[in-house]
Amino acid sequence: MFKNIVNLVRRTSDKDIDQENLLKDALDSSRMPRHVAIIMDGNGRWARRRGMPRSLGHRAGVESLREVVKASSEIGLEVLTVYAFSTENWKRPREEVDSLMDLLVEYLYKEIDDLVKNNVRVRAIGKLDELPPRAQEAVVRAHEMSEKCTGLNFNIALNYGGRAELEDAVRRIGAKVAAGELSPGDINQGVISDHLYTAGQPDPDILIRPAGDLRVSNFLLWQLAYTEFWLTDVMWPDFKKVHLIRAVVDFQRRNRRFGGLNE
Ligand code: FPP
Repeated sequence: MFKNIVNLVRRTSDKDIDQENLLKDALDSSRMPRHVAIIMDGNGRWARRRGMPRSLGHRAGVESLREVVKASSEIGLEVLTVYAFSTENWKRPREEVDSLMDLLVEYLYKEIDDLVKNNVRVRAIGKLDELPPRAQEAVVRAHEMSEKCTGLNFNIALNYGGRAELEDAVRRIGAKVAAGELSPGDINQGVISDHLYTAGQPDPDILIRPAGDLRVSNFLLWQLAYTEFWLTDVMWPDFKKVHLIRAVVDFQRRNRRFGGLNE
């Protein structure tokens, strides 16, 4: 029943589809971003404004996620990273944490066949060993089932914090130095990147933050060094394919200098 309510209030209008088609025509295939990262914010406020419990906002957020993953594959992104649960989110009431973990498990069990069919490789990033056992099992199953997929790399940041990621990386690098496998003089930015959860992946080209807040919230702190931000007041449960394409079209008009000068 809840699912029906969520879908009723989240229906895509014909206007959205018209805009989506117009924007798709505006996409420049020679300037596509490789990696888009998203802070899926605003679920709680979206639900409260409709007199619903926050958990229904998260459930509506899963519908947006489903649409955005599909659209990311369609437009040919290499990597999509979404922030699903931070190292700080444990501070939320127990019922909300439990309902988020339940949603994650439900999502991974329900979606994995379709994700694999669409050649999407799922990777959870974060301190995964601290997740409840049911979430760890769902994550391991999704990793194993999708490990041979060669299309979109879909990173789900779970119990993720940018500082915790750097702390883990420093600890692993330190252990290699102590074991004599690496000398301190050989530690450089490449070595640090190679010890992050996103090792081997390009840094995000675009960071999308819906719901109006203007902060990074401990997300991908190292990787965002030269990322272009795309901010919107739209709440995550109202975020659709049309918004993703708009972000990419805007990105394509930006002048990225990476600290240098215009050519
Ligand atoms: C932030 O909105 C959102 C979260 C902390 C969770 C995001 C999770 C989902 C979209 C669904 C579950 C994820 C997966 C991968 C199935 P908020 O609750 O802080 O909203 P508010 O700022 O309006 O309170």
